[in-house]
Amino acid sequence: MIMKSFCVMIVPLLFFLSSFVFFVNGVSSPRKFFDVMNYGAVADGKTDDSQAFLKAWSDACEYHGRSRVWIPRRTFMLNSVNFEGPCNGSMAFLIKGTLKASTDPRNFFTETWIGFKYIDDLTVKGSGYLDGQGQAAWPYNDCYRNPNCKHLPATLRFDFVTNSKVNHLRSINSKNTHINLFACRNLNISKIRMTAPESSPNTDGIHIGLSNNIKISRSVIQTGDDCISMVSGSRNIEINDVSCGPGHGISVGSLGRSHVGDYVEGISIRNCTFKGADNGLRIKTWSPSLYSVASNITFEDIVMQNTANPILIDQQYCPFSGCQTKGKSSSRVQIQDVTFKNIRGVSSTQVAVNIQCSEDRPCKNVKLIDINLTYNGTGGQAMALCSHVFGSSYGKQIPKGCL
Ligand SMILES: *[C@@H]1O[C@H](CO)[C@@H](O)[C@H](O)[C@H]1NC(C)=O
Ligand SMILES: *[C@@H]1O[C@H](CO)[C@@H](O)[C@H](O)[C@H]1NC(C)=O
Ligand SMILES: *[C@@H]1O[C@H](CO)[C@@H](O)[C@H](O)[C@H]1NC(C)=O
Ligand SMILES: *[C@@H]1O[C@H](CO)[C@@H](O)[C@H](O)[C@H]1NC(C)=O
Ligand SMILES: *[C@@H]1O[C@H](CO)[C@@H](O)[C@H](O)[C@H]1NC(C)=O
Ligand SMILES: *[C@@H]1O[C@H](CO)[C@@H](O)[C@H](O)[C@H]1NC(C)=O
Repeated sequence: MIMKSFCVMIVPLLFFLSSFVFFVNGVSSPRKFFDVMNYGAVADGKTDDSQAFLKAWSDACEYHGRSRVWIPRRTFMLNSVNFEGPCNGSMAFLIKGTLKASTDPRNFFTETWIGFKYIDDLTVKGSGYLDGQGQAAWPYNDCYRNPNCKHLPATLRFDFVTNSKVNHLRSINSKNTHINLFACRNLNISKIRMTAPESSPNTDGIHIGLSNNIKISRSVIQTGDDCISMVSGSRNIEINDVSCGPGHGISVGSLGRSHVGDYVEGISIRNCTFKGADNGLRIKTWSPSLYSVASNITFEDIVMQNTANPILIDQQYCPFSGCQTKGKSSSRVQIQDVTFKNIRGVSSTQVAVNIQCSEDRPCKNVKLIDINLTYNGTGGQAMALCSHVFGSSYGKQIPKGCL
C-alpha cells in the first residue's frame, strides 16, 4: 500500500523532472547537426571533399551550442585538413562513413591528414573508417637512412585539444603515425582499432608528446612501428586494456634527443596484451643525450604472446648508423621508480628481461615483481640481463632476476 502510493507519486514526479531537465538542456545548449552533404561534399571517394568539410566545421564552430559535424555513411576523399578552434560550444565530429586520404605524391609531405587544433570539449567518434592509403606513400619514406627526411602525414593529429574524447573509430594504413597528440590535456581515447602492415614504416599507433592526463583504453593496435609511444613532456598517461602487435611495443621514449628538462612521469600501463610484437614494454633514451628524467612508470598485468624483448630498458638507443658508437657515450636521462609487475607469457628472444641503463646515470628503484617469461626457442632458457641498475625483485622470477 505504502509502496503503491509512493510509486503513484514518484512516477509523475520523475516525468516532470526529466522533462524539466530536457527543457533546460534544450534551451541552454541545443544540439545542431552540420551534415557535410549540405556543404557540397560529393562523396564519390575520388573528388576532394576537403572544402565541404572545412565549411561544415566552420559553421559548427561558430554555433553557440552543441555542434555535430555529421559525416554520413558514404565514402569521401579528403586532402590535408585542419579543423581549428576555439569554438563557441561543444564540438562533435561524427564519422559514420569512410574517409580516404590522397594517393597523389604531391600531397604526401605534410604534417597532418586530419588535424584538430585549439579545441576544448571535442568528441570524435562514429564507428567510421579513416583510410590513410599508406601503401602509395610508404615507398617515399626514407627516414630509416636519412635523419633529415621529410615526414609523411599523421592520420589524426590533436594539438592543444583539451577535455575531449576520441572513440569508436577504425584507422587503417596510415601514411605515418595513426594518432598524434601534442600539448593535449584530459583526453580519453577508447575503442579504436588501428591497423597497418607489420612492414610499413613509422606507422606508430598513438604518439604522445607534451600532454597531461591522457587515458587510452579498450583498443587494438596492429602496426609497423610503436604501438604507443610517449616522448618528452608526457605526464599522467594511463593505458588500460590495449592489445598490441604486430609492432614495436609500448615505448617510453626515445628521450633525450632534444627538449632539455622535459620530463616524462606518471605512466601506468595495465592489463595489456602483446601478440607477436618486436618489443613489449620499452624505455629508450638516446645516447648521447641531453639531461632529463623519466619517473614513476608502472607496467602491470601484462601478457606476452611470442613477443621479442618483453621487458627492455635501452639507454643506448641510436637507430641511425654512425650517429654514435655504441658504448662510447652515455645517456644523461635519469630513469627512476619503474615497476614491472605480473608480466607473464612467452618471449621469442632468449633475453626476456633486458635492462641496460646509463653508466653516467644508473637507473634507480627499478622493481621486478612476479615475472614469468619463458623462452620459446632453441639455445636454452630465458635470461635476464641488467647493467647499471639499482633496484629490487620480489615474488616469482622467471627468468632468474638480475636485480
Ligand atoms: C563565436 O561567437 C561570437 C559572437 O558571440 C562571434 O563573434 C564569433 O565569431 C564566433 N565564432 C567563433 C569561431 O568563435
Ligand atoms: C575520461 O575518463 C575518465 C575516467 O574514465 C572520466 O572521469 C573523465 O571524465 C573522462 N574525460 C573526458 C574528457 O571524457
Ligand atoms: C605516479 O603516477 C600515477 C599515474 O600513473 C599517479 O596516480 C601517482 O600519483 C604518481 N605517483 C607519484 C608518487 O607521483
Ligand atoms: C582487463 O582486460 C580484460 C579483458 O581484456 C577486461 O575484461 C577487464 O575489464 C580489464 N580490466 C581492467 C581493470 O581494465
Ligand atoms: C612458439 O613459436 C612458434 C614459432 O614462432 C609459434 O608458432 C608458437 O605459437 C609459439 N608458442 C607459443 C606458446 O607462443
Ligand atoms: C609460468 O608460466 C607458465 C606458462 O607460460 C606456467 O606453466 C608456469 O606454471 C608458470 N610458473 C609460475 C611459477 O607461475
